[in-house]
Amino acid sequence: MKANMSAVAAFNEEGQKFFHRARNEALNVEQEFAEQQKLYAKFADNYAQVRSEGGFQGPKRISEAIYGLLGESKDAKILDYGCGIRPVADILIDKYGFCNIDGTEPCKELLDIAKRRHKMNNLFKIGSHDDHSIMGSKQYDLICSSGVFFATPSHPGISCIRSLCELTKSEGWIVLCMAESYLTAQIMEGFEHLEREGCIKMFSIHIFEGYRKSTPQEQSQGMTIKGAIVKMQVA
Ligand SMILES: C[S@@+](CC[C@H](N)C(=O)[O-])C[C@H]1O[C@@H](n2cnc3c(N)ncnc32)[C@H](O)[C@@H]1O
Repeated sequence: MKANMSAVAAFNEEGQKFFHRARNEALNVEQEFAEQQKLYAKFADNYAQVRSEGGFQGPKRISEAIYGLLGESKDAKILDYGCGIRPVADILIDKYGFCNIDGTEPCKELLDIAKRRHKMNNLFKIGSHDDHSIMGSKQYDLICSSGVFFATPSHPGISCIRSLCELTKSEGWIVLCMAESYLTAQIMEGFEHLEREGCIKMFSIHIFEGYRKSTPQEQSQGMTIKGAIVKMQVA
């Protein structure tokens, strides 16, 4: 990190360069995945600070949605997909009392930090392109994922939701949280397709203000960042 620069400013600077290249398809998916993983690894030790300085509300908002669905079923089996240093599990355990949470994370440096806290059951070093069978079939009451889906082509997308349906019990839930701007017309068609295919019974989308703080550049353009919670019930 450059001297005198906050963790979030440094992450934003490098992140924006990466997102620009990823969205302009200057990289193929494998190269792009390697680059985003390098970025997450580089900031792993400062990642908690990056997320708190950036005002990310995803973990809080998705945990509220999960509590709304599972209520007092504290031993419900939950998978946090792309758990990072596992802020979602922290809230689910410490605030809501859930006690049966697994996680996946492809970035070793983030996963090592998640492992240090010993609060989750199983942590799998897995990305969306890997075989998911190690996690079994129809195991989870609910799979959640905060800040992971649709960010760039190498982040999980609609086809990954099909894999998550295989891991989720019938009538169980998949709950995603992301920036509202990621819900393009193509992604919306993807949800409708999953419903028509019979993978999911229904989906709902809730938009909220203040997904994260705006960057100084976004502020100068009067932009605020909305978030979205997508709930899908597995068929
Ligand atoms: C912005 S971080 C969010 C981490 C965490 N869920 C949180 O709320 O802090 C995005 C995470 O997605 C993971 N990720 C990126 N591409 C992935 C993929 N293709 N499959 C699974 N996870 C992926 C990254 O390693 C990273 O931990």
